[in-house]
Amino acid sequence: MEKKIQTIGVLTSGGDAPGMNAAIRAVVRTAINRGMRVVGIDHGYNGLIRGENDPSVLHEMTLRSVSDIMHRGGTILYTARCKEFKEDAGIEKAKQVCVQQGIDGIVVIGGDGSFRGARDLSLKGIPCIGIPGTIDNDISSSEYTIGYDTAMNTVVECVDKLRDTSQSHDRCSVVEVMGRHAGHIALNVGIACGATAILVPEVPFDLDRDVVSKMHEAMETGKHHFVIVVAEGVGETYSVENLATEIQERTGVESRATVLGHIQRGGSPTVRDRVLASEMGNYAVDLLEKGIGNRVVVMRDNKVVDLDILEALNMTKSIDMNLMRVAEEISI
Ligand code: ADP
Ligand code: F6P
Repeated sequence: MEKKIQTIGVLTSGGDAPGMNAAIRAVVRTAINRGMRVVGIDHGYNGLIRGENDPSVLHEMTLRSVSDIMHRGGTILYTARCKEFKEDAGIEKAKQVCVQQGIDGIVVIGGDGSFRGARDLSLKGIPCIGIPGTIDNDISSSEYTIGYDTAMNTVVECVDKLRDTSQSHDRCSVVEVMGRHAGHIALNVGIACGATAILVPEVPFDLDRDVVSKMHEAMETGKHHFVIVVAEGVGETYSVENLATEIQERTGVESRATVLGHIQRGGSPTVRDRVLASEMGNYAVDLLEKGIGNRVVVMRDNKVVDLDILEALNMTKSIDMNLMRVAEEISI
């Protein structure tokens, strides 16, 4: 018989993502509504480990402590990347803090790395449930991650603005967007903004074939300004500055590089991110209430379901090659 869960901890870990607050709110309200207590753990796994000496990072959450947060970007619980948690000693310390503080189970909102930590802590006897929160949409087990829609909308707004100035000057705008090692943001935003070329780390490219020739062909049909969207994973080999210089030299079109950076992580979450975060937060508490841990709540076939964490971590996700084809065909 599983131990009855009376107190749930909730934390956010890895890069912040818009919608994390909506997930925290759903966890807190669902758990309290079901008669459980909720402890907010500040600064991700760091806070859990520090809780031993600094109880201020662990605080009681109430129905009202999550009021007015749904529309706010970032995370009210702060977030961090915690090296110590990758070692057994760190996980053991976290387990001791949970036992000391009477935390029976934890909801972890973050990415794949955070899920690994959740699995390790579950194996130590503290049931954990992961909720996918990252702007990159790079969690293999889930078709969608909280924050992705908001980030893409932010990027679209920025690239539309770049287009205005590129158009006015007959320039080429080479813009780097986030995504870590994945090109999902770049591909979708590239299509939504009518980019002439989209460069993602998943698909090898040739600058002359995939960018320069396309620009020359478009110029022959009367095009004078261009947007090239580059995923940051490509930027590890070719910086957007170098790409802009090369493009200018090979096409004669004056080119400018822009790195959008952390602006992409902020802002008020979209409806999609708020609703999904609410549904996933509620689902995570459902599992813990039943004493179930070591699971992630993910989206598969457009439905919210749960999977074993290890199984989830072993899955793979690829870029949508049909969307790549669509982009290629219509960006002429
Ligand atoms: P994300 O969760 O967004 O993928 P990170 O990869 O930075 O972000 O991971 C977030 C945190 O999860 C790390 O700082 C660490 O505390 C924990 N973590 C990452 N990898 C592992 C691992 N292999 N084992 C245990 N914990 C891990
Ligand atoms: O995972 C979210 C993300 O914004 C990635 O797109 C990016 O590669 C990384 O985090 C940047 O991390 P940091 O917060 O360390 O700058």
